[in-house]
Amino acid sequence: MNKEQWGSRVGLVFAMAGNAVGLGNFLRFPVQAIQNGGGSFIIPYLISFLLMGIPLLLVEWSIGRFGGAFGHHATPFQLHRMDNRKIWKYIGVFGLFTNIAVASYYCYLESWTITWVYHSIARTFSGMSGVEVASFFDSYVSLQQHTIPVFVWFLCILLNTYILSRGLEGGVEKVAKIGMPLLILFGLFLAIKAFFIKEGVEGAINDGSVGLNFLWTPDFSTIWSAKVWLAAAGQIFFTLSLGMGSIHCYSSYVSKKDDIALNAMSAGWMNEFVEVVLGSAILIPIAVGYLGIDKVIELTKFGGLGLGFKTLPFLFEQWGAAMAAFAGVFWFGLLFFAGITSSLAMGTPVMGFFMDEFNWKRKSSAWFFGLLIFVFGLPTVIFYKYGVFDEFDYWAGTVALVVFALFEIILFAWVFGIDKGWKEINLGADIKFPNFTKYIIKYITPIFLGVVFIGSLPGIWQKITNVEIYEKIASATDANVIHELEKTILFVNGSRLLLVFLYAGISVVVYMAYRKNYAK
Ligand code: ALA
Repeated sequence: MNKEQWGSRVGLVFAMAGNAVGLGNFLRFPVQAIQNGGGSFIIPYLISFLLMGIPLLLVEWSIGRFGGAFGHHATPFQLHRMDNRKIWKYIGVFGLFTNIAVASYYCYLESWTITWVYHSIARTFSGMSGVEVASFFDSYVSLQQHTIPVFVWFLCILLNTYILSRGLEGGVEKVAKIGMPLLILFGLFLAIKAFFIKEGVEGAINDGSVGLNFLWTPDFSTIWSAKVWLAAAGQIFFTLSLGMGSIHCYSSYVSKKDDIALNAMSAGWMNEFVEVVLGSAILIPIAVGYLGIDKVIELTKFGGLGLGFKTLPFLFEQWGAAMAAFAGVFWFGLLFFAGITSSLAMGTPVMGFFMDEFNWKRKSSAWFFGLLIFVFGLPTVIFYKYGVFDEFDYWAGTVALVVFALFEIILFAWVFGIDKGWKEINLGADIKFPNFTKYIIKYITPIFLGVVFIGSLPGIWQKITNVEIYEKIASATDANVIHELEKTILFVNGSRLLLVFLYAGISVVVYMAYRKNYAK
């Protein structure tokens, strides 16, 4: 029987905040904000946090602790305990599927941060032009630097696996207790440095505050755009790790009589602080300071990875050798800690499942998880340029979160019943939520989620039919380009099949566990 527990309450809150605080806070959030109108993004974002984020945090923490009391640390059988109709355990498969699929590409991203810390210390970018630094990244991810990216990625998986094999208290909690404070320290340093960028000094063309103003000046012209709302809701999901199954797992190790309400709020608000305050105060102000607003808008079209890995190292160089090295180590170090505390959280439900249902030892479960993300991550590494990485991110890191959340809130508020659910939330609670929260969970959040889901259907359809790639093929003239795009379609479709295969595979294992342990 898996009887692990958190070492301390502080450890739990740090681990849970570490679960939420991730690359999404520093790379995804600022870019989403810029792409969706800066000031006009934050209102839908905050509303999504209040009406969807907070209720779902409470629901997921409750489901986790509830299932944990029966010895279930992963969602298939946690949901099964709430309603024993067959379907729920297969819906619960999402909570394993998403973690495996997201960890598979996330670890690759995490491994870049290790490499970039190394290059910051080794001063690799010194004397390079902006274009050279950018193409250094491109050659890295297209594996022109031989096996180095694969090797570092492999090391990163080993590191994750090793920490996981040390358990909650001895592994996950320790890393979070060291990583989170360091991350905040590094972030504050960079944010202050960014704030004091002066126009005309060290090649800056704007003050540091220009980027911040750009991000936060209200612009109501796009506030009614469905696209902005979807992006805001999607960011809330990703950043809080909602709809993934990892929150359920962490809270399943909380004992039945212990608080979850205050814990959920502490971890959730800590994530929001890191996201809204630190996440917006580094990447954008520095980039706008040196490149100007128009250029940054253009660069954000390619997402946060480009800005974070291709542009910032070059800009740090403007601060002189020593400062560039420090800034590089702080920035990529911060990203590393943000990343690893999240990827560890993705491992725990998978391990919990095998320990609960098949009596596996902790170590074997950890290594099995490592093996899984190696196998499913390999295509994202090797065929990165054919869009496999992006496909995993889209289906597992975006769509699956909303789908699973929609199911779980229906289960919690309507099938299990909001009265029982509300009791669960308040059991042992150190804070009291106003009674109307109950009605938000019952009506507003499911409707909100349903609208978000329906609103995303056209985009999902476009994606399924590969419209964008076909448009590119239609407008391309170069035979090589056309050939590469056709190959991309093949890989993109292949990735989807692989993900379906993963979901189906886990369902079979869940069925086996059910037959073995529960069927009469
Ligand atoms: N919540 C994690 C992040 O923001 C997954 O990266």
